[in-house]
Amino acid sequence: MNKRSATAERTAGITLDHAAAVYDWLSPMMTLGSEHHSNIRAIERLELDGGQPVRVLDLGCGTGTLTRMIADKLPATAEVIGIDAAEKMIEVAERKKGARKNLRFEAALAEELPFENESFDRMVSTFFFHHINGGLKAKVLQEMWRVMRPDGLAIIVDVDMPYNAFGKLCAWSGYRLFNQPEILENIEGRLREELDSSNFDNHIDSRYGGYISLFVLKK
Ligand SMILES: C[S@@+](CC[C@H](N)C(=O)[O-])C[C@H]1O[C@@H](n2cnc3c(N)ncnc32)[C@H](O)[C@@H]1O
Repeated sequence: MNKRSATAERTAGITLDHAAAVYDWLSPMMTLGSEHHSNIRAIERLELDGGQPVRVLDLGCGTGTLTRMIADKLPATAEVIGIDAAEKMIEVAERKKGARKNLRFEAALAEELPFENESFDRMVSTFFFHHINGGLKAKVLQEMWRVMRPDGLAIIVDVDMPYNAFGKLCAWSGYRLFNQPEILENIEGRLREELDSSNFDNHIDSRYGGYISLFVLKK
């Protein structure tokens, strides 16, 4: 039970090998049906219509639902890569990849990205930053900065400081249900603090669900 894959064993992040088989039907329920809309919003903010070859990285991609949607927006010449520490999540993502030539998945740690400096135009991360503690948040942001090309753009969607009673209820219930201090950190504003301490220019583009924020990061 709860056996972590070899890659997952190397991180202090909360990894989900054990949930891979049920993640795709559980996730829409946990997000009260907002997952698809949230993914569409993230893709819109990624500004993928520039025309030039685009290399995109999805950090903590899980079963790759969003990664696949991004690949479908881009030509075959683009390269979209999803990474996750849980090898079982990557296995599910691989199975759902189909014939897409511009998409690949890799088991890897977001705090040790196996990629060259300045090699991505765009990055995205949804509901991953509440799975890593404050120190790791800072490390991942440093790695994102390292592999992002000048003028690159990243979108982070995650649990943030609740702004209404419904959001407080959802965020605090999530924290209590999963007994996950990383969620409490986000509720208390740690993700914002780490973003402000990072090299990125960042702002909140939109807030929804009472406790979720979409951050835009620019290099
Ligand atoms: C809640 S899931 C989000 C998955 C997907 N992005 C989504 O929106 O459905 C968080 C993911 O982060 C992964 N994870 C945790 N720590 C990690 C790390 N250090 N590096 C890469 N992935 C990690 C987990 O295995 C899990 O699949």
